[in-house]
Amino acid sequence: MFKTIIEPFRIKSVEAIRMTTGEERRRLIRDVDFNVFLLQSRDVIIDLLTDSGTGAMSAEQWAAVMRGDESYAGSPSFYRFERAVQDLMGFPHVIPVHQGRAAERILFSVMCRPGDVVPNNTHFDTTRANVEFQGATALDLPCAESREFDSDFPFKGNMDIEGLRRAFETHDREKIPLVMVTVTNNSGGGQPVSLENLRQVAEVCREYARPLYLDACRFAENAYLIKLNEKGHEDRGVKEIVAEMFALADGCTMSAKKDAIVNIGGFLATRDPDLARQEKDLLILTEGFPTYGGLAGRDLEAMAVGLKEVVEEDYLRYRIMSTRYLGRHLVEMGVPIIQPPGGHAIYIDAARFAPQIPPLRLPGISLTVELYVLGGIRGVEIGTAMFGRRDPETGEEMPARKELVRLAIPRRTYTQSHIDYVVEVVGELYKTRDTMPGYRITHQANFLRHFTARYAQVE
Ligand code: F0G
Repeated sequence: MFKTIIEPFRIKSVEAIRMTTGEERRRLIRDVDFNVFLLQSRDVIIDLLTDSGTGAMSAEQWAAVMRGDESYAGSPSFYRFERAVQDLMGFPHVIPVHQGRAAERILFSVMCRPGDVVPNNTHFDTTRANVEFQGATALDLPCAESREFDSDFPFKGNMDIEGLRRAFETHDREKIPLVMVTVTNNSGGGQPVSLENLRQVAEVCREYARPLYLDACRFAENAYLIKLNEKGHEDRGVKEIVAEMFALADGCTMSAKKDAIVNIGGFLATRDPDLARQEKDLLILTEGFPTYGGLAGRDLEAMAVGLKEVVEEDYLRYRIMSTRYLGRHLVEMGVPIIQPPGGHAIYIDAARFAPQIPPLRLPGISLTVELYVLGGIRGVEIGTAMFGRRDPETGEEMPARKELVRLAIPRRTYTQSHIDYVVEVVGELYKTRDTMPGYRITHQANFLRHFTARYAQVE
């Protein structure tokens, strides 16, 4: 076996990258007050802002797009899509939506009441916002190992089982309408959840007769990491592991923009026919008729093919190994990251990268600015700009618990030389990290402020 892992595809269609100079980028980032969300993507060389909707579709997916049947009701494209989900995940009721958060809104509208509590290993921001929008509390229960960035524990996405039991002991069972597990745990560093942990969560849910839902965005990456790192699963097929993960659940929400490798799409699935009926009623109100749910027939076709391709082992091996490759090379240069690398992204610990910048001076924002100016690379801050809060009474800024910068890797989009370039740029920056300046917020919205905030350098 050769040690070089190649991209298991050839390139049939290309998209030009516009090269810019450091001088241009210094001006461009100033023009948007140092917020990379406000840059035009044509001014970015390597865009690692997100792995969501940014993947490259295959020739088979594009062929399926042409097969898309755009009938309002009962399109064969819907039935092909429904079958693909059922074959992989085993849920009888499959409701298409335009993206993950639409599935979340419908699920929580139907299942949650004010005063309810929803436990999750870690809620993604839109999941939390949709729970809270119903007047319910989003309770994060990450495992203790997730707090240790440097340990090599392979399943830092796990849920804290004791914490889950405590939640059921302290709250009336009726107040916990469902339990969710996010695979992989994006907000927790892209870390996977072990099958053993999922089984334990399912057992607690069964004990208290509450349904278990998966936030399944990155289910295939999670399954492959189980195969690689969980004892007893090395020789199993990924599809078998996927089937077992979903067999433990009563339903799922899915953003197909991740592990179905499409640019738009998602779904909500359940085993409960009554729930499915209520969910479809809501779907009709805002998304569309249940056989298209806010998507075109061609989108449903692309999802059906993407769901088959994403569980191919050659693809997953390349995917996981290329993320690991980026992580390994950064670590070799001394760059502090969350270990071990997860499936879809590398998370740099900005607090340790630039320790001279205190949390309230936004080390993560500083790192995103420097990465852009030096190499045209766009990452995203997951730290005080995103999760810090202003005390409503004193107006005082409070820092977040972690200062991270996520470099998310779009699926099948960049080659190894693009990643080598990223390694080189981060390495160069690391040498001069002690000159990185701090930032302060000069303008912010009342919620989800990181999208539109304006920053200024602090001398
Ligand atoms: N759940 C998780 C775990 C996610 O990572 C996302 C999206 C969603 C739900 C919502 O899905 O965007 O289709 O509505 N994450 C993207 C990201 C945006 O960059 O991590 P959506």
